This record gives sequence, structure tokens and C-alpha cells, in this order.
Amino acid sequence: MRRIGVLTGGGDCPGLNAVIRGVVKSASTKYNCEVIGIEDGFDGLVLPDKTRNLTPLNVRGILPIGGTILGTSNRANPFQYKVTIDGKPEVRDVSGDVIKKIQSLGLDSLVVIGGDGSLKIAYELFKKGCPVVGVPKTIDNDIMATDVTFGFNTAVQTASEALDRLHTTAESHHRVMVVEVMGRYVGWIALETGIGGGADVILIPEIPFDIAKVCQKIIDRKKSGSKASIAVVSEGAKPIGGAVSILCAPEEGGSAERLGGIGNKVGADISRCTEMEVRVTVLGHLQRGGTPCAFDRILSTRFGVAVVDLIADKRFGEMVCLKGQEIESVPLSEAIKGQKKVPTEEGLVKTAESIGVCFGR
Ligand code: F6P
Repeated sequence: MRRIGVLTGGGDCPGLNAVIRGVVKSASTKYNCEVIGIEDGFDGLVLPDKTRNLTPLNVRGILPIGGTILGTSNRANPFQYKVTIDGKPEVRDVSGDVIKKIQSLGLDSLVVIGGDGSLKIAYELFKKGCPVVGVPKTIDNDIMATDVTFGFNTAVQTASEALDRLHTTAESHHRVMVVEVMGRYVGWIALETGIGGGADVILIPEIPFDIAKVCQKIIDRKKSGSKASIAVVSEGAKPIGGAVSILCAPEEGGSAERLGGIGNKVGADISRCTEMEVRVTVLGHLQRGGTPCAFDRILSTRFGVAVVDLIADKRFGEMVCLKGQEIESVPLSEAIKGQKKVPTEEGLVKTAESIGVCFGR
């Protein structure tokens, strides 16, 4: 093991820099191995002049910093890469060029730190003979085969603190505050934020909701003396028989569809049905920015160290993961099988229902 490449793909997430630091420090300290940073996700393996040496010296101080020092992209898929030919946009498979680039850089392995999209690309490259290993990243916590992804706990912390602030203004004005949080097609952020921030209503994609039940909950609270209520709505939540709210359709060779808008719809329905004053807050990218919490710094460091050990053991095509308290590894094929959904009849949903939280069912 002489030279490792590392890239961050997809949306950014608190803890990416901590993983990069873990990779660089452990490669250098434990294996005396060089690390090459690849900029802007897979773009860095397609476009020229997008690589740089990473040394323990130049990753100094990045542990608590949000985002990624390498830059990222959620559009650069080498298997469906957007190019302009004779002034016209086209989508091409440039994966062969990516593999040649990896060889020309003298990389004996490539660490892909990414969510489901980037890990799927990593797996396809592995199938073409590329020595790839993965690190699961996303605030959504939707990756199979790991108990948790780094970034998730920071997002929940940020969103819970937002709820604390909304509680005080809701109480003062006797209002209903609706808070839309991220999470794509799973409700982990909404569920844990709702419990951590003391919400009265939590709407998640896994439990299509009946708005009448949501409104009844708020009316009952008002009758019993609680004039303010807080509803946390996951961006992927949908009413029974209804569809997910889409902000932007997916682009060919570009980014995936963007979700959003359900918070405002739920807010309008609650206002109409309860005749209470309602305000809607969309937390958006606030949940992705800023310094990682201590849990994520530690998990990211453990992942960074473990992925270098995977390379040393030549366990290509695998991804590091957290199982209970232990760091393990799984084949990338396991990790990309589907999305890790919130179980609806056990665990945290049941805990929340036991304290009276309404899921609209
Ligand atoms: O996957 C992470 C995530 O933040 C989702 O929760 C959200 O739907 C999406 O990315 C937003 O992506 P973008 O940064 O492209 O708007």
C-alpha cells in the first residue's frame, strides 16, 4: 500500500473532514502511505488538475470544520456524465477514463466517502476492477448495513435546537409551528428531532398521514389548555393516498429529484381546520452545515481509520459500518440494496406514541 486516493461525493455533511483527517493520519502514522485528495467528487477523476497531496500537516485543524475541504458534487456520475459535444449537451459513460485516471495517478485504492448515489458509483467501478472501498455518509441515515451514518446526529442536534427556539415563540403567540426537516424518503431526522425537541406531531414518509387526525390532536391540546403545538414534518412525508411533494424533477445525468413543500401544505391544512394561527419553518440546508457534534467526530475518525485498515487487508468492494458499538465492514452490494426505513411498529415510533405524539394515524 503506497498511495490512497480519497474523494467526497454527493451532498456535504458534518464529519466529512473528520473522515478525511482520519484517513490521512492513519495512512501516514500506521502504514507510511501517501494520500491523494480528489476534488469535487467524481468530477476530480474526469476533469484535469483536480488532485492534491494530503499530509497530516495540511489536514491539521479540520476535525471540527463542517463541509468538505475537497469539495463535492452530486451531479458527477461517471456512468452518466454530462458533456457538451459541438455545443450540444450529451450524457456519456466516462467510467473507462476514470479507471485510467486512477491508474495514471498511481493509486492502489480509492476511498469513496458518500451516500447511496456515490456508493452505487463506487460499486459499479469495483465491478469494473477498480480497488474501491466505501465510507457511508449522509444526514438522512438511510444507508442499509450500518446502524448509523456520520452527520445524522449533528443534523438531529441542529434541528432539535431549532425546535427549542420555536417552542418559546409558539407559546408566546399561542401558535402552531410546523417545521419541515430533510431526510428524503426516510423519516429518521424528523423522528429523532421530534422526540429530542418535544414535538406534538411527527409526520414521516413511512407512515402516510390522515390530516384530520393531526388537526384533532392539535384541537384536543388546545381544549386541554395547551394553546401552542409543534409539528415536525419530514420532507418526504405524504398524506394517505397522496404523493410526495416534489420541488424539482431529476435531471438526466444530473442531480436527483428535490423534495420539499409538504410543510407549507400541512400548515395550510392545519390553519383551515383548527382556525389557529400557524407558521411554517423550513430548516433546509442549516441541517447540513456547521461543526459536527462529538459523536460524529468520533464516528468519522473511527470510519477513517477502519477504511485504511480495509485497504491494507485488500478488502476492496467493501464499506465500513457501525454495528452496535463496533466498526465492521460489509460488501458495498449490501449497502446499496435499498433504503433503511424507520420501523413503524417498534422502537422510537412506539416510544413517541407512548408519550402521546401523533403520527397522523
Ligand atoms: O441527502 C441529503 C439531503 O440533504 C437530503 O436530506 C435533501 O433532500 C437533499 O440532500 C438536498 O439536496 P441538495 O443539496 O441538492 O438541495
